[in-house]
Amino acid sequence: MRRFLKTNMAIALLMTAASAQAEDVEVLHWWTSGGEAAALNVLKEDLESQGIGWTDMPVAGGGGEQAMTVLRARVTAGNAPTAVQGLGFDIVDWAKQGALANLNEVAAKEGWDKVVPEALQKFAKVDGRWVSAPVNVHSTNWVWANKIVLDENNIEVPTTWEEFTAAMDTLKAAGITPIAHGGQPWQEATVFDGVSMSVLGPDKYKAAFIDLDESVLGGPEMKEAFDRMAVIRANVDDNFSGRDWNLATAMVINGEAGFQMMGDWAKGEFLNADKVPGEDFVCIRFPGTSEQVIFNADQFMMFDQGGAVSKEQSALASAILSPSFQSAFNVVKGSVPARTDVSDEAFDKCGKKGIADLAAAAETGNLFGSTAHGHANPAGVKNAIYDVVTAHFNGEYDSETAVMELVDAVSIAK
Ligand code: BGC
Repeated sequence: MRRFLKTNMAIALLMTAASAQAEDVEVLHWWTSGGEAAALNVLKEDLESQGIGWTDMPVAGGGGEQAMTVLRARVTAGNAPTAVQGLGFDIVDWAKQGALANLNEVAAKEGWDKVVPEALQKFAKVDGRWVSAPVNVHSTNWVWANKIVLDENNIEVPTTWEEFTAAMDTLKAAGITPIAHGGQPWQEATVFDGVSMSVLGPDKYKAAFIDLDESVLGGPEMKEAFDRMAVIRANVDDNFSGRDWNLATAMVINGEAGFQMMGDWAKGEFLNADKVPGEDFVCIRFPGTSEQVIFNADQFMMFDQGGAVSKEQSALASAILSPSFQSAFNVVKGSVPARTDVSDEAFDKCGKKGIADLAAAAETGNLFGSTAHGHANPAGVKNAIYDVVTAHFNGEYDSETAVMELVDAVSIAK
């Protein structure tokens, strides 16, 4: 009996020591689809191999709006998670509020300044302090198509808006839903990223959505952009309302629909269903935007836990930025690395194209933040744009009214 007690005490002591050594990280994120969960596992396993435990805090909802609501409640209650998935201006906002830990030590040790693209540093480094660890670069101006459906209907990959509308007509006549879409404001805004770029071109996209220039927000090209959104609305199925983005992707995967306009996280769903780019599906830039990359980057913000950045937060940040993780994770997620020095060798056709497109766009001044995913403007303006785009998509406004509402909504929100 005494021996038994002694052994038990020894085990208890060992366990206490172990848990004191390795705290868990609690990670709040919105990666809940099949493809997203597969990518997240790459990160979980990486940390587990370093003896760092993972407490999962998933909040479903593409684009992360619901996750941000939960985050605000947690911070208000004085109980911020260790690390939180964040996008663009949201990160800057939390940093300005003093809520984020300082990652400068690990960033300096690992030379992040030299390898993280400038466009991302704008959001990851605030007032000279690294506050978040960039995981990837996604892009929204993509179209995903079922290759077999295209072939069976003699449709060439469309490169212009006219070819795209012709392809939609062909599919409709064949009884196939031309566009798979999920009727949620963030998804409509994601489509609007590519559509507006295709009409406005890069200079006017920047003037409208980044500089908030009223003459472009209210100009004739913006009406044309809304007219194109109406064409897309006319080519979705009757059950689009409220559908999650990954269920829309599934419609393209199983041949129920021809195309989906969605960020490259959609590729994660194709891969998770064992589909092969170039054989089962194709990835193309939204017609008319082949030179541009509209980007959003996932980062993990490290929340201040009262004191200096914790050992686990530094380890998580370091794991995220390691070149091998950047390759392994982004191959599965559909995104491209957040470092400029990672080889494209492990990436499939679409991933290689994504990496090359990003480098070329950065070089030629064709890289722009996504309006839909918080990389063009802070949340207030982003949400004002969501409201107008969604109201128009759902038939509340015609295109002319939508343009006027856009100007008003943005001027009130900015
Ligand atoms: C994120 C992606 C995510 C997508 C859908 C985007 O805002 O950047 O990582 O897969 O939302 O949930």
